[in-house]
Amino acid sequence: MCGIIGYIGPRKASTILIEGLRRLEYRGYDSAGIATCHEGKIFVKKGAGKIDELVKKLNFSSLPGNIGIGHTRWATHGVPNDENAHPHLDCTGKIVVVHNGIIENFQELKDELIRKGHVFRSDTDTEVIAHLIEENLRITGNFEDAFRMSLLRLRGSYALVVMFADDPERLYIARKDSPLIIGVGNGEMFMASDIPAFLAYTRKAVFLDDGEYGVVSRDSFIIKDIVSGLPKQKEIHKIEWTLEMAEKGGYKHFMLKEIFEQPKAIKEAIYGNMKEVSKVAEAISKYDKIIITGMGTSYHAALVGKYLIQRLGKMPVIVEEASEFRYEYEDLLDKNSLVIAITQSGETADTVAAMKIAKARGATVIGIVNVVGSLATRIADMTLYTHAGPEIGVAATKTYTTQLVVLSLLSIELGKLIGIDVSEIEDTIPKLPELVDVSLKMNDKIEELARELNDKRDFFYIGRGINFPTALEGALKIKEIAYVHAEGLSAGELKHGPLALIEEGVPVVGIAPSGKTFEKMLSNIEEAKARGGLIISLGDDIKLHSVSDVFLRLPRVPEELAPITYIVPLQLLAYHLAVLKGHNPDRPRNLAKSVTVE
Ligand code: AGP
Repeated sequence: MCGIIGYIGPRKASTILIEGLRRLEYRGYDSAGIATCHEGKIFVKKGAGKIDELVKKLNFSSLPGNIGIGHTRWATHGVPNDENAHPHLDCTGKIVVVHNGIIENFQELKDELIRKGHVFRSDTDTEVIAHLIEENLRITGNFEDAFRMSLLRLRGSYALVVMFADDPERLYIARKDSPLIIGVGNGEMFMASDIPAFLAYTRKAVFLDDGEYGVVSRDSFIIKDIVSGLPKQKEIHKIEWTLEMAEKGGYKHFMLKEIFEQPKAIKEAIYGNMKEVSKVAEAISKYDKIIITGMGTSYHAALVGKYLIQRLGKMPVIVEEASEFRYEYEDLLDKNSLVIAITQSGETADTVAAMKIAKARGATVIGIVNVVGSLATRIADMTLYTHAGPEIGVAATKTYTTQLVVLSLLSIELGKLIGIDVSEIEDTIPKLPELVDVSLKMNDKIEELARELNDKRDFFYIGRGINFPTALEGALKIKEIAYVHAEGLSAGELKHGPLALIEEGVPVVGIAPSGKTFEKMLSNIEEAKARGGLIISLGDDIKLHSVSDVFLRLPRVPEELAPITYIVPLQLLAYHLAVLKGHNPDRPRNLAKSVTVE
């Protein structure tokens, strides 16, 4: 939930660290700090608040040195305040640590260290790491040994960068269940939670795996296994993302940029998967027990995937949130099970844990992932990439539509394998970028609509069949960035209770493309209208016009592909409502992009 960074090289470390933290701020934004080392002394500046405010207040760039570490925090242990902000020092002020994750046995370690005379300055779990290393350095007299000995005592999750005042030519790093990547430069090295933090300087990356630690100097690095202490061979990956992709490019917010990038991202998802998808479909077709899992928006994609695979592949599918899957499905899995895990980041703790459980039970695991080299891709037996490029806004937009593209391609292949006529859907796939463009052209109209709806306190999104998840996703977008109460419902459920909440002027967003359920949707919309609901309908059939207060007419597409085109206006609606309310849609309160703790 936090972002960490380290730098060693010829440049001024503070500049690189601040710039990197700005690019990692989507991972956490309640406090931040950096530490540098110069002439054998550690310098630290940190505080609660957003990075831009802290840069002005604390003058980070005054810190001297060519080696340093930094952190942007999303609080887990200890409230967001100046003391709890990272980096954290030991008692001597010579060991400094940044950490992403949770140390589960921190209280036990803290009590032990306090008994030995250590003085703590924060309420964080992280501070124990600095003191533990201090203690072990006293015993071993060797930096690497002290670091490794300390790692062996930690339970929980961590990505760590540690700097020693007395060893100023090296940084010590480690990972367990939280991401950490080395950016390999020319005579300089970067370490970060995510690639955009160093994309301006290098596109060569080494992904640390769980249970690995490393010692990094300007020109080299060595990675070892934490338990055995033995060196490991690591591959240097060439990153395809460009810096431009990780910048706002003239848009007011990343989220808006990412919404508008969808035609391009969808194209990449289509053409990037052409070859892979038939191989994966072939593998899936051998199973009769399919479970799809994910969290949040990725869970909604999983729900769409269920309808797609059932409709086109004629295979029954179970969908479960990864946080539930972990506890409920373990005993039901075996080597005859096929699990599809959907995750943008590839680091979501619940999803990764579900994947590990599935693997341990002998199931085959397929990942649908955006971030290349992420943990999920290393657990999965096979991975299909969404090729959406970096998504910085906390709200998932282009990664959702590209997940849907991958699932559609997969289902088309499954359909073909059993002789189903999928030609209409298949022929529409290459047209998706233009079709999404039509939805994007509604931006001004939707901004106007957002103004009209700005004082509304409750929203209801209704859909049926394959567009029930569209209702869930539309509602999630509005909740997470506009902080407005919204419910996504299957339209059939309306009469069984929620209809009681519809009264004069309550917005009801009806997702009603032509298809199997259109007539039923129309009557559900009419029911809501009869109770005074303010009807905003999305569809291609003119019949919706007379029952709607606002009718957003979209191009006709096969119903199976409607979730891709229909979510776009709903993303825009949430975006404009958030902006009108004065919220930053890129960094919604209480939320972080990657939920790497359970
Ligand atoms: C949605 O807008 C959120 N960012 C969130 O629900 C997200 O989809 C969820 O946390 C899962 O993330 P993942 O796809 O990276 O696993």
